[in-house]
Amino acid sequence: MTILVTGGAGYIGSHTVRQLRGEGRDVVVLDSLERGNRDALLGAPFVQGDISDSALVADVCRQHGVESVIHFAAYKSVGESMVDPAKYWRNNVQGTVDLLEGMLAADVRRIVFSSSAAVYGNPDSLPIREDAPLRPENVYAETKAVMERVIHWYGRTHGVRWVSLRYFNAAGASSDGVLGENWDMSTNLLPLVMKAALGASGPVKVFGNDYPTPDGTGVRDYIHVEDLATAHSKAVDHLNAGRDSIALNLGTGRGVSVMEIIRATETEHGRSVPHEFVDRRPGDPATVYADSRLANQVLGWTTTKGINEIVRDAHGWHRAARV
Ligand code: WQD
Repeated sequence: MTILVTGGAGYIGSHTVRQLRGEGRDVVVLDSLERGNRDALLGAPFVQGDISDSALVADVCRQHGVESVIHFAAYKSVGESMVDPAKYWRNNVQGTVDLLEGMLAADVRRIVFSSSAAVYGNPDSLPIREDAPLRPENVYAETKAVMERVIHWYGRTHGVRWVSLRYFNAAGASSDGVLGENWDMSTNLLPLVMKAALGASGPVKVFGNDYPTPDGTGVRDYIHVEDLATAHSKAVDHLNAGRDSIALNLGTGRGVSVMEIIRATETEHGRSVPHEFVDRRPGDPATVYADSRLANQVLGWTTTKGINEIVRDAHGWHRAARV
């Protein structure tokens, strides 16, 4: 019943590997370590290699008795994807095809896919439901949408069953301070707020304060990385129970503004967080939050943590790790 976790040395992957092992499940991680961190594996069984190596994927599946795959391995920088799109088509899209071919060679037909709310682009209505149109606004997001379609078609042509988990804004760190998100590897808000709060950078830039939101700053649905991890475990159970393929939103259903994050960090840190208002970031929607009821119904999953836990755990981890 081993679970192969691609990208298990990354941010969400490492939290998920830890969750699975904590539940007593057998895992094996496949990670190139190009952007992952070996220490974050916490001693989990590990093979260094690339998802594009189908023969390696098949070998790992056979040798470890793999029955299902959780697929995190992908590039995730929106900015980089617009400068070097070929890199994203090759690594994310072609890499997923190669992974699936390796799985099939070893007769593995269950996959949980790390997708993103970015597939929806700028939403017409809120909260966002899974049946909203997919309108990616950058190459990174398009690769996630295409990967979902590739996996869907492997379902139609080869009997692969899948769960696509569309994360809203993954954030936070493990509550015991063991794992977190390196602020040098991220352009996301939480790590950058912590970096500014802890004096490791200049003021955090707030991208726009004239949005049609209560305080003028952008609103997003931040979800604790440990809540995300438990959803993956339940998605594997869903597939193991023989149930149907499905795409599910993972969010809290609650929108939080940039300034609310900064204020919560100030409360946690006990000091003001240096910040400055700058122009809007091109392509940023004003407000994004999930309708997550389907994940709740289908997986029996619910979030257990909110923004205060996210800020507390991120702050605790960054203060100790200084990265
Ligand atoms: C959050 C809010 C910004 C940085 C991105 C990707 C998405 C997904 C998650 C992977 C927004 C504001 C941010 C800063 C700021 N990635 N902000 N100053 O843009 O919602 O989503 O990451 O799957 O695909 O698009 O996340 O953390 O960049 O921004 O004011 O320095 O913080 O404008 O309102 P985003 P984010």
